[in-house]
Amino acid sequence: DQLDTLYRQVIMDHYKNPRNKGELQDGDTLKINMNNPTCGDRIQLQMKVEDGKIAEAKFIGEGCSISLSSASMMTQAIKGLDVDEALQMSDIFSKMMLGEEVDDSKFDLGDIEALQGVSKFPARIKCATLAWKAMEQGLSDGEDEDDDD
Ligand code: FES
Ligand code: FES
Repeated sequence: DQLDTLYRQVIMDHYKNPRNKGELQDGDTLKINMNNPTCGDRIQLQMKVEDGKIAEAKFIGEGCSISLSSASMMTQAIKGLDVDEALQMSDIFSKMMLGEEVDDSKFDLGDIEALQGVSKFPARIKCATLAWKAMEQGLSDGEDEDDDD
């Protein structure tokens, strides 16, 4: 239907004109590599966290249109958010991938909503969540830094 067509256009636009594709040059950058074992596609997410906020986010990598457009949308959405907020947004995205109704009152999901339909294609959910998993891993690693083990 029309909404599907619109969503497909949004996805293709992010795939063809990825936002935040590239590398951060500063030393103080989190780098997280994540691959999709099903297909071997991989991305590296780079984030700079300053005063508990995500000051910068970029990615490089190879993958399908879903994985790269999701990375593009995700980096766009988390910039400027607190670490907690970014992790909450990741929870919302996971729910979306389970086909659940999501509460978008807290965040403006913007282009991310275009990925809703992916929940109907289980094989592609891993594509869509690749960048989000990288983000979660990077941000939770940071929180664990004070652990003694
Ligand atoms: Fe098959 Fe992504 S792993 S479509
Ligand atoms: Fe590999 Fe989508 S087919 S990430």
